[in-house]
Amino acid sequence: MVLSMHGCGEKHRKEHKEMDYRELIKELDLTKLPRHVGIIMDGNGRWAKQHHRPRLLGHRAGVKATRLAVELADEVNIQVLTMFAFSTENWSRPQSEIDGLMKLLREFMHKEVIELNRKNVHLSILGSPDKVNPKLWKEIYETAAITSRNTGLKFNIAFNYGSRQEIVEGIKALYKAASVDRSLIQNLSPEKFSDYLYTTGLPDPDLIIRTSGESRLSNFMMWQAAYAEIIISPVLWPDFSKFEFVKVLLEYQKRNRRFGGI
Ligand code: IPE
Ligand code: IPE
Ligand code: MG
Repeated sequence: MVLSMHGCGEKHRKEHKEMDYRELIKELDLTKLPRHVGIIMDGNGRWAKQHHRPRLLGHRAGVKATRLAVELADEVNIQVLTMFAFSTENWSRPQSEIDGLMKLLREFMHKEVIELNRKNVHLSILGSPDKVNPKLWKEIYETAAITSRNTGLKFNIAFNYGSRQEIVEGIKALYKAASVDRSLIQNLSPEKFSDYLYTTGLPDPDLIIRTSGESRLSNFMMWQAAYAEIIISPVLWPDFSKFEFVKVLLEYQKRNRRFGGI
């Protein structure tokens, strides 16, 4: 009896929370949504520390927040969502943490792909295979490929991603192509150079969200972020709810984007 009442309370609280973000969604101008949102998911380690748990538990809690963010982006019809999961600099962390993060990514891909596919989500990996266990790389690529024909939300996981690396790889690819066709260099423009980046074909991010109060890009989309609105949320990533996401979208809609004009 006590247990079932407790269960009821949980359910009630959950429904109440869900209602909150749905109420807030009504305040959004659906004609002025960012086309592409990038999220620097930060603060898992601090969250774990706050809860007196090992860092890996913070990352595990962060996976839940990731799922919620994808759901919300899908619910409000954002076209592209890119989430920064592992940077080219994160290899400097202790090996046990790196191993844990790789394991979580593999689990996430396997668990989520069926639901993402059902939702018509197109999942891609943005990043370099450099230093990544080739078996894992192949596995996550093949898992993402299951969704390659989907036409809904484009959900990118930036994994072993670094903006500088992306630009250097782009230059190398351009150099190779230009050895066959010199005009590629003569006619090069910023727009054309964008085609050599991992984000080729995608709109630049209109909004970049970083959680945990840190105000830096940490090598995320430095080329693409030229005119992105940057919003820093104080919330640690595992606590970033649908409600927080909608709040950030509302703040974005208050911004006056000028693109160098007046
Ligand atoms: C973000 O959380 C996740 C990754 C970078 C993989 P952190 O692990 O950076 O958390 P903090 O910054 O230590 O709190
Ligand atoms: C940025 O977070 C990378 C990811 C969120 C994956 P970090 O925690 O690695 O960044 P710094 O070290 O605080 O700049
Ligand atoms: Mg961090």
